[in-house]
Amino acid sequence: MTILVTGGAGYIGSHTCVELLNKDFDVIVIDNFSNSSEECIARIEKITAKPIKLYVGDVRDRKLMDSIFTENKIDAVIHFAGLKAVGESCQKPIEYYDNNLYSTIVLTETMKAHGCKNIVFSSSATVYGTPKVLPLTEDCEVGGTTNPYGTSKLMQERILSDLYLSDENWTVTLLRYFNPIGAHESGLIGEDPHGIPNNLAPYVAKVAIGKYKEVGVFGNDYDTPDGTGVRDYIHVVDLAKGHVCAIEKVTKPGVYVYNLGTGVGYSVLEVIKAFSKACGKDLPYVIKPRRAGDISSSYANCDKAYKELGWKAELNLNDMCRSMWKWQSGNPDGYRK
Ligand code: NAD
Ligand code: UFG
Repeated sequence: MTILVTGGAGYIGSHTCVELLNKDFDVIVIDNFSNSSEECIARIEKITAKPIKLYVGDVRDRKLMDSIFTENKIDAVIHFAGLKAVGESCQKPIEYYDNNLYSTIVLTETMKAHGCKNIVFSSSATVYGTPKVLPLTEDCEVGGTTNPYGTSKLMQERILSDLYLSDENWTVTLLRYFNPIGAHESGLIGEDPHGIPNNLAPYVAKVAIGKYKEVGVFGNDYDTPDGTGVRDYIHVVDLAKGHVCAIEKVTKPGVYVYNLGTGVGYSVLEVIKAFSKACGKDLPYVIKPRRAGDISSSYANCDKAYKELGWKAELNLNDMCRSMWKWQSGNPDGYRK
């Protein structure tokens, strides 16, 4: 079975390519390297000892997309390509809507033209907005997103659901990720943010290698056990395996929605403590004001994914921090040598 992975050189895409190749899927990647590098593809091939067919270009490029589907018989697509920085999306909303929505439109039009109607989409817990109840189940209300990035995810979910309503031959799987962190156990691939990381775990990792002095903790007056924000961190390898399960288990047309998390929430201070243990030194932190738009707590109920896909996260916070430290300490400048 041949899978086209858009954004396959990115953080989650690269780990998913490894799991797909390990299960003997043929993998084709399209990536414009706007937030990644070709070196990552070489590393995936090194880990798996299997080749990837790579197309360098933009998913919004209709001609290129058409030629990819003409040259290959593609059975399903996993659509990771997109822009993902929450703060940046407030500064550049049109760029975010253009990239995230238009790529989905061009991709699905091309798929339809070539008779490929199976898509797995990277959605996000952000579509739930501010949770009214915890843990979040898939039937919790969506909406109330607070930034263009989150709104673009919500819109893409709607576009793909409407596509199924218009043609019931489509199989649409919407995977709502909670907070992916960690890296492949080889230490060869991992998250490689350009510039100052926006997210907690990659920032903590940069403090651990001495690139930054201390972690800024955004608020300690939330209604949580230690006052700091609580999130459902999930190991990126578990998350990647969730995609393989979706490809293997979702075989009938329809729209399927699954939360992918661990079901356990950890606070910012607990993450810093776990990373300190992983890297063998106490990481300094300082309490800062709350970050605009942040919610207090978010964690998932993942029973549906277990029941229907047979998937459940297996790795814990210590595994996440240990693997991140291996990647970060072995590649202090990421994929740049
Ligand atoms: P990433 O930036 O590491 O990967 C995205 C990849 O897509 C990059 O390699 C980038 O170069 C490529 N890309 C972007 N626009 C493209 C385009 N128009 N054409 C071709 N390639 C393009 O991000 P990631 O963390 O791996 O996230 C993957 C997906 O998962 C994204 O859609 C993101 O919104 C979603 N997601 C991520 C998180 C998270 O915390 N990382 C959480 C929820 C959802
Ligand atoms: N935090 C800090 N200091 C930092 C960075 C973050 O204290 O330097 C705190 C935040 O306030 C929050 C927690 O760490 O309490 C996690 O923040 P992240 O930025 O790592 O993650 P978010 O939950 O804010 O958002 C992430 C992705 C979104 C995605 C969402 C749900 O950035 O794209 O998870 O999947 F939508």
